[in-house]
Amino acid sequence: MVNVDISELFREKDFLKICAPMVRYSKLPFRVLARRYGCDLCYTPMIMADSFVQSAKARSNEFTTCTDDEPLIVQFAAHTVADFVNAAEIVSPLCDGVDLNCGCPQRWAMKEGYGAHLLTKPELIRDMVLQVRNRVSERFAVSVKIRLLDEDRKTIELARSLEAAGVTFLTLHARTTQERHSPIHEDSLREVCQSLHVPLVANGDVKSLQGATRLYMETGCKGMMAARGMLENPAMFLGNSSTPLACIQDWVNISLDLGAIFNCFHHHLVFMMEHILPKDGRRVFNCLKTKTDVLDFLRENYNITYIPGESGLSAESDVITCNESSDRENNSTGSFFTSSIQKYEVQDDVLDSLGGLYD
Ligand SMILES: Cc1cc2nc3c(=O)[nH]c(=O)nc-3n(C[C@H](O)[C@H](O)[C@H](O)COP(=O)(O)O)c2cc1C
Repeated sequence: MVNVDISELFREKDFLKICAPMVRYSKLPFRVLARRYGCDLCYTPMIMADSFVQSAKARSNEFTTCTDDEPLIVQFAAHTVADFVNAAEIVSPLCDGVDLNCGCPQRWAMKEGYGAHLLTKPELIRDMVLQVRNRVSERFAVSVKIRLLDEDRKTIELARSLEAAGVTFLTLHARTTQERHSPIHEDSLREVCQSLHVPLVANGDVKSLQGATRLYMETGCKGMMAARGMLENPAMFLGNSSTPLACIQDWVNISLDLGAIFNCFHHHLVFMMEHILPKDGRRVFNCLKTKTDVLDFLRENYNITYIPGESGLSAESDVITCNESSDRENNSTGSFFTSSIQKYEVQDDVLDSLGGLYD
C-alpha cells in the first residue's frame, strides 16, 4: 500500500467530504459503502492505542482494511506519547494517517485521561504529535480531533501549537466538552480556520451536501465531517435527502460479502431506514433477530435481495488485518478493547438515542 498524501488531497478540492470516526460503526464494510457514495476520506472507529500495541488479538479484532479502503485515517485513544507513537508506527504501512482523539466526552474516557480530558494537557498532545512526526515518514498524516475550549482565544492557541508541532490538519467538533445537542459555533470554526495555515475540518451537525456546502462558504473549513448524518443517509454527500434503496441494496451485498456480524449488518440498516420505514414497519424491523428475517423483510417490502459476490469483495481474499508484530507485545489486552466500551441496544427511536451513544 502506498500512502495517499492527505495534504495534497485537501489541495485538490474545495472541501473534503469525510466520514467521521464512529465506535462500532465506521468499520470496513461501512467505509466501503461511504466511499462508493461520495466520501473522500474515511476514519476507523477509535481504537485503544495501548491494546493495539500490546496485543496481536486486539490488532486483528479492532482493525481491518482492504486495498480500496483509502484514503484512510486510523483514530487512536491514547494518553501517553509512547502508546500513540508505537501504535502509529505499527499501523502506518496499512493506512494514510493517524488521528488522536481529543474529543470524546464520555465519563470513562475523561476519568482515564483519554479523549477530551487531553484538552487540559496541551503540552502532552503537542508531544504526541511531535514524536509521530519524528518517527513516521513525512508523507504520513497526523491529525488531532478536538472540541472547542471555553474561549476561542484558547482554542486558537492550542490549534496553533499543534500546527507548529507538525499536524497535517486538524478537526474541530464545534462544541465544548460540556455541550451536547446545542447548535454548533460556526463563528468559532471561522475564527480558528482563519488563524491556521493547515486545513481545518469542521464537525457537528453536517447532515446534507447542501449543509456542508453552506458551512464551507460560511467558515472556509477545508473538510466537512459527518457522523450521525452518514449513519442516517450514507448517500448524503451525493446530495440525496434520504437513503436511496440502491444504497441499502449495496449495504446488504457489501456487508454480507465482507462477513459483517449480525448486529453491525442490522444496526446500520436500522439507521439507514429510519426515515424510509413507516412507524409500524420500523417497530417490526428494528426487533428482527436473524439475518434470514432481515433479508425476508427487505425482499418482501423493497425487493432487495442479497446477491453473493455482487460487491466485488470477499471476506477471504480481500480483508487485510494488521499482522505487524510489536516489540512491546505482552499479550495483555491493554486497558480494554474498544468493543467493550459501550453496551448498546437498538431501540425503537434509534436516531434520537444515537446522540447519547457517544456524547
Ligand atoms: C455512534 C457514534 C460513535 C462515535 N464514535 C466516535 C469515535 O470513535 N471517535 C470520535 O472522535 N468521535 C466519535 N463520535 C463523535 C463523532 O465523530 C462526531 O464528533 C459527533 O457525532 C458530532 O458529529 P455529527 O453531528 O456529524 O454526529 C461518535 C459519534 C457517534 C454518533
